[in-house]
Amino acid sequence: EQSYDLVVVANRLPVDRITNPDGTQGFRRSPGGLVTALAPIMAASDGAWVGWHGGVDEELESFDKDDIHLVPVPLSEDDLELYYEGFSNSTLWPLYHDVIVPPEYHRTWWDRYKKINQRFADAVLKIAAPNATVWVHDYQLQLVPQMIRLARPDLKIGFFLHIPFPAASLFSQLPWRTQILQGLAGADLVGFQREADASNFLRCLRRFTDYSTKGDVATPPADNQMQNLCRAKAHPISIDTEQIAKLSRDPQIIARAAQIRNELGNPKTVILGVDRLDYTKGIRHRLKAYGELLADEQLRAGDVCLIQVASPSRENVDTYMELRDQVELMVGQITGQHDTLSHTTLRYLHQSYPLREMISLYLAADVLLVTALRDGMNLVAKEFVAAHQDGRGVLVLSEYTGAADQLTQAVLVNPHDIDGMKDKIIQAVNMNEAEQEKRMRRMNRHLKVNTVARWSEVFLAELAEISAASSTDA
Ligand code: G6P
Repeated sequence: EQSYDLVVVANRLPVDRITNPDGTQGFRRSPGGLVTALAPIMAASDGAWVGWHGGVDEELESFDKDDIHLVPVPLSEDDLELYYEGFSNSTLWPLYHDVIVPPEYHRTWWDRYKKINQRFADAVLKIAAPNATVWVHDYQLQLVPQMIRLARPDLKIGFFLHIPFPAASLFSQLPWRTQILQGLAGADLVGFQREADASNFLRCLRRFTDYSTKGDVATPPADNQMQNLCRAKAHPISIDTEQIAKLSRDPQIIARAAQIRNELGNPKTVILGVDRLDYTKGIRHRLKAYGELLADEQLRAGDVCLIQVASPSRENVDTYMELRDQVELMVGQITGQHDTLSHTTLRYLHQSYPLREMISLYLAADVLLVTALRDGMNLVAKEFVAAHQDGRGVLVLSEYTGAADQLTQAVLVNPHDIDGMKDKIIQAVNMNEAEQEKRMRRMNRHLKVNTVARWSEVFLAELAEISAASSTDA
């Protein structure tokens, strides 16, 4: 096997194994913000990407796809249950999203998490060239930095957490809190979405380990197995702004946007929601507010349509199945009460769509609702803004997203305050064009500079600088 100077490792590869209707095997783009962000960067550099290919119990050789060298890591049915659905998505995911649902703690899940993290680390070690840079991503792989550090002190190790890092008072629930912190501290640089996440992490290190911190740098105690310094900083992720802007000018996509409005019967106002079907996204809060606005007749049923795209996610996890039932019950209540034979007030789509169709939806919408109860960043908000180079459209954005730190001209909402959210939705629906344009232009000025390419350049440059400094110290 060849070796690489840049190795990215994430739970998922950017493509997912699928079985086509005719029984043949194919690949499709993986869901979620992490892949959305990293795929364009990796296509532009010649590194390797280590990750799971989405299949069950399937050993695949490494292969090239869309200009990226992919190294698949296999997971068995048991691995999926204990490491992926269990520890990653029923322990860490809810814990890191402010315990919106109660996290579960099981030793068997933790044991498997360690074992699978070692499997990913081993796959990296096999292909990392001497002095290579290894960039580890997200909550599924928090032990990998330490594992790689102990085996290969020559490597530069970065870690980026795409989701929030919780406050110490919540993180303390985790029976393995010290091990997780020590795992992350194996990195030279740990990046977070928000300043608040970085300071939560540093506070946890001080409280639950013997590390000391000064500014954004954590120092291990003298008897620690790893002696590297670990810097923790906010590096908010973004999108490929130019790609989205360019697609938004594509005549076919513009025509498709008009067609979507037509097919809905040309309502005065089209409102849009786009999320993975996840309890962190505040879909129930959003539907409650929307249903009440229709019932109060603050929104006239004949004038408005909400398109809610809820892409399937983690469908074997109980909390996700329950959420789906609750959302679908609410959808039935709203449409049953307010629809007529000729008009629907709510189009619910339990589907995922390719990027071009998403841009058409963004263009077809007057208002985008992002009402997450907690979200690391939320790239949908950024994509919506980038798709509106025309200056039209209003973004309603939860304060509980990383994106709210940057898209400050959005109509900011607290999703827990249903009445307040209803007022903000009405404000958005009635906003005049001059005001829409002023806000969109300012947010687009931000996104023009702060792109995902810049995010990775800045992160990797900082990592290079830190590791250079610490090797001269040694
Ligand atoms: C979020 C996480 C990613 C994850 C994605 C999709 O964006 O930060 O790590 O890959 O959701 O979730 P899934 O469980 O399908 O990979």
